Amino acid sequence: MPFDVNSLEAHWMPFSANRAFKKEPRLVVKSEGMYCWDYKGGQVIDGSSSLFTTPCGHGRTEIADAVHQQMTTNDYIPHFSLGHPGSFELAEMVARILPDPLNHVFFTNSGSESVDTAMKIVLAYHRAKGEAHRNRMVSRERAYHGVNMGGISLSGMVKNRETFGLTLPNISLIRHTWTEEQRFSKGQPKTGAEMAEDIERIAMSYGGSTIAAVFIEPVAGSTGTLVPPEGYLKRVREICDKHGMLLVFDEVITGFGRMGTGFASERFGVTPDIITMAKALTNGAIPMGAVAVRDEIYDTITNASPDDAIEFFHGYTYSAHPAACAAGIATQKIYQDEGLFERAAAMEDYFLEGVWSLKDHPLVYDLRGIGMMATVEVHPGAAPGARGGALQKDMFWNGLHVKWTGDNAILAPAFIAERHHIDEIIEKFRKTLDQHL
Ligand SMILES: Cc1ncc(COP(=O)(O)O)c(C=O)c1O
Repeated sequence: MPFDVNSLEAHWMPFSANRAFKKEPRLVVKSEGMYCWDYKGGQVIDGSSSLFTTPCGHGRTEIADAVHQQMTTNDYIPHFSLGHPGSFELAEMVARILPDPLNHVFFTNSGSESVDTAMKIVLAYHRAKGEAHRNRMVSRERAYHGVNMGGISLSGMVKNRETFGLTLPNISLIRHTWTEEQRFSKGQPKTGAEMAEDIERIAMSYGGSTIAAVFIEPVAGSTGTLVPPEGYLKRVREICDKHGMLLVFDEVITGFGRMGTGFASERFGVTPDIITMAKALTNGAIPMGAVAVRDEIYDTITNASPDDAIEFFHGYTYSAHPAACAAGIATQKIYQDEGLFERAAAMEDYFLEGVWSLKDHPLVYDLRGIGMMATVEVHPGAAPGARGGALQKDMFWNGLHVKWTGDNAILAPAFIAERHHIDEIIEKFRKTLDQHL
């Protein structure tokens, strides 16, 4: 499958080492099921559901057919003044798997847009309640909440912020929950719940009545599967309730079955006020994100305006795009028809056992995992992230795709994976580690 090297120049790739990539391009030309193929014909198993996007596996014809059908029937409508049936149907399907009483869904086009939308919903809600003085937001170190200006202000990843200097004011970061003593804990660590008290410290410094919301990834995904300690999320909820702060779970990765339940909220038994989502909403086939809110938030904001007035001055040209809705509906049907969340739950132990078989490898510094997501953290090489970067590249040429952040490899196979796929992922992972000894 030929390609023209010169044609790689024009595209400025996101979050990529552009110059290195263009010297040795890892170009994928086909994907199907658990695999993709590079331009030289090499078969690569997908160890991370691409970018946590594709739990149903690649090349699902049900989704492609639904999108094609939609595009030839009703390709676009301006959602600011008109509607189409698909967005209402998809919102209902998503509401059915959301925890009660999160029954209202606002559509966006990505996780980043979902986070910034959630920030605006939080501010609009407090203002509608006559509490516009609540304008401080709390999030965590090592959090990833996307790349828009709101999201990077909430995020705790230095490289994503330091280049840009200007970020939003009134944001306080608390500690992440990982500690050295938790190394190699499988599932939820037993220690560390007391770190939720950091929110109390922020409340003591600024006044609880000034804090609008706390943003938390139930399991921090992009910085390497930081699993919440037992009791931590419940304590976060209690503190939010005590001070009247909204709790936002950013479930862009954990939503749609990654924890073996519809949302992580269900797995951990803690219901937030707002949930952000994206990625697996459409199996990654068409860009789409969403923000779900409690009934009371929707009612408060919409009832604060006169009848016939716009209630929330926010939205994107492509919010609830018909193609994305068609892809989303087809994806939700696959989840239901194939029982994929249950299948993810049933595979968790086997998957984590496989990952933990790497425990004694000399390059492995830590293992963390829950549900169908686990991180192998390697000892850093010459500089932080250098070993991870080299391993990621070599794994690809050894036939394994894994998403790495620095020295953290984040494994998150599709829910259609069979045991032999898990075995293949672990074998190729180990083989590449061995080559770096
Ligand atoms: C928790 C979380 N929030 C937000 C985002 C941003 O999503 P997107 O890349 O679709 O903008 C991500 C992406 O990985 C994420 O993991």
